[in-house]
Amino acid sequence: MSNIKNLKIISIPKISDPEGRGNLSFVEKNIIPFKIKRVYYLYDVPSDGSRGGHAHKKLNQFLIALSGSFDVIVDDGSSKKTFTLNKPNKGLFIPNGIWREMENFSAGAICLVLASDYFDESDYFRDYKRFIQFKHI
Ligand code: TYD
Repeated sequence: MSNIKNLKIISIPKISDPEGRGNLSFVEKNIIPFKIKRVYYLYDVPSDGSRGGHAHKKLNQFLIALSGSFDVIVDDGSSKKTFTLNKPNKGLFIPNGIWREMENFSAGAICLVLASDYFDESDYFRDYKRFIQFKHI
């Protein structure tokens, strides 16, 4: 059963250009602990907007602030923790069974999500009480 202790910030390689042409980062199979089947991204989120508000039964995800910053509040049913993502070369691994809320999006923030499976609405817990019941079985 996932615990917020299983969540971690993973460093993504950053190649700085010796001639000052900027940075390049890449995500390869060995950087994150699952095989990527889907990529999606959140953008144009208002500063007072929130995303997330759900947990997944099986899906594993890796979140990267490609631009700007936002907070990810994670909850394993027993405790909560807030991670601020604000670097394109650091990502947050969120395994299945973790409730997440995302807020405090900066102007122009882009959240890239790498996911372990295709979209499947039946994989979601969208009701917090049901999530808590599931976690305390
Ligand atoms: P949702 O995962 O609830 O977004 P967030 O957690 O950012 O608030 O998805 C929002 C809507 O988009 C929902 O109707 C499902 C749909 N959706 C897809 O069709 N495909 C996808 O890959 C994702 C992530 C969402």
